[in-house]
Amino acid sequence: MTAASTKRTSLAVVLAAGESTRMKSSRSKVLHPVANRPMIAHVVDTLAGAGISEVALVLGRDAEKVAAAAAHPSVESSVHIQTERLGTAHAVLAAREAIAKGHDDLIVVFGDTPLITAATLEAARAQLADGADVVVIGFRTADPTGYGRLIIEGEELLAIREHKDASEAERAITYCNGGLMALNGYKALDLIARIGNANAKGEYYLTDIVEVARAAGGRAVAVEAAEAELTGCNNRAELAFIEKLWQERRRREMMVDGGVSMIAPETVFLSWDTEIAGDVTIEPNVVFGPGVRIESGAVIHAFSHIEGARVAAGAQIGPYARLRPGASVGEGARVGNFCEVKKAEIGPGAKVNHLTYIGDAFIGARTNIGAGTITCNYDGINKHVTQIGADAFIGSNTSLVAPVSVGEGAYVASGSVITADVPDDAVAFGRARQENKEGRAAVIRERNRALKDARGKSGA
Ligand code: UD1
Ligand code: MG
Repeated sequence: MTAASTKRTSLAVVLAAGESTRMKSSRSKVLHPVANRPMIAHVVDTLAGAGISEVALVLGRDAEKVAAAAAHPSVESSVHIQTERLGTAHAVLAAREAIAKGHDDLIVVFGDTPLITAATLEAARAQLADGADVVVIGFRTADPTGYGRLIIEGEELLAIREHKDASEAERAITYCNGGLMALNGYKALDLIARIGNANAKGEYYLTDIVEVARAAGGRAVAVEAAEAELTGCNNRAELAFIEKLWQERRRREMMVDGGVSMIAPETVFLSWDTEIAGDVTIEPNVVFGPGVRIESGAVIHAFSHIEGARVAAGAQIGPYARLRPGASVGEGARVGNFCEVKKAEIGPGAKVNHLTYIGDAFIGARTNIGAGTITCNYDGINKHVTQIGADAFIGSNTSLVAPVSVGEGAYVASGSVITADVPDDAVAFGRARQENKEGRAAVIRERNRALKDARGKSGA
């Protein structure tokens, strides 16, 4: 943040009163998630990151849900309902009460433009600090159709012409209005009140503030941002495009700034809060749901799905592993292919390598869980806990019927169904003893052949 904007007071107005018609959705579009977080929450988080702690939400549909999704610990927000949608200027005026309190900087952003960065908002605020009354965030694009065009002369922004109202010559301009603005917070209400609706759509365009401010002797300028930052969401295809851009940006940050290795980054899906430490390697086709922390040096092998889980330093996950909420994998531990871990702690150096379900459990350090082991944690009504001490060995194909515990250093024989606690250093057999019947196989084989022959003759 610039020194100037640090000292300045600010209010952001977030416009999100749209009907979201083109989303064909049962909810407001700003509730739709990008990286597993509602779009509106991304916007508010970015505002907070730009040092803005007061937000006025202009809402229509689903106002209560949108306000809840927009809640942020360091932002104080107020809700303003725009009952009729008469244009972006009209929408800003819905927040009149909040604006009238008086702030140095008034920032106007859209709830459906979640990729805007704090750096861009700070650049716009810096222009206000330099004396501009209107700062428009613009972008250059190969296809400007539909956007308002920025009419620039030297350093000055003369006007914004909406596509529908633009002349042929103006339509050739590729520098466009992203829609987001920073305004002199003391002058904004007066300027917006002078905006009329004599245009192609009969709407009150916020963009007219440029000409209105200039007519009043004020200065308007544009700051340029990358086109990606101003990508808006009107339909599901655009939502998917925003997701793609968000993923690309965050992967790059993780690799370049965070020292994370991704072999095929385009196949790794992150959530808004995914934390991955340096020197972690992520193999192809890995999905991170919300609430994941991966510590230094861990390796996430291909095709793993991880959500609400922590993976400690040097641990290895997958290929084809699923970590569900509450899974915590200790230092240097391994969770291998086709294993599912839920609400369970896997101790340091423990191994859960093949075809296993561990739920509601504590597995001690260095313990080995054999292939096909299942914690039977659910009785149809309640969940129960399985506790396994350190240095234990659970043989393959064991069912651990919880609540149950296996002591430190204990062995459980393969194929056991363990229903009672196993003491430290004990060996538990929970299966029928093997019996060998000499020569019996030949007898059975003879009988089966005879049966087949008899069927062949009768044509059955
Ligand atoms: C707006 C800009 C245009 C810019 C484009 C960038 C205006 C007049 N035009 O056009 O110059 O290039 O964004 O995407 O500002 N909203 C309300 N209430 C209203 C009207 C709009 O809350 O009465 C909200 C919408 O939900 C949306 C945002 O304001 O989030 C922008 O409105 P929209 O109708 O999408 O404006 P555009 O025509 O895209
Ligand atoms: Mg739009």
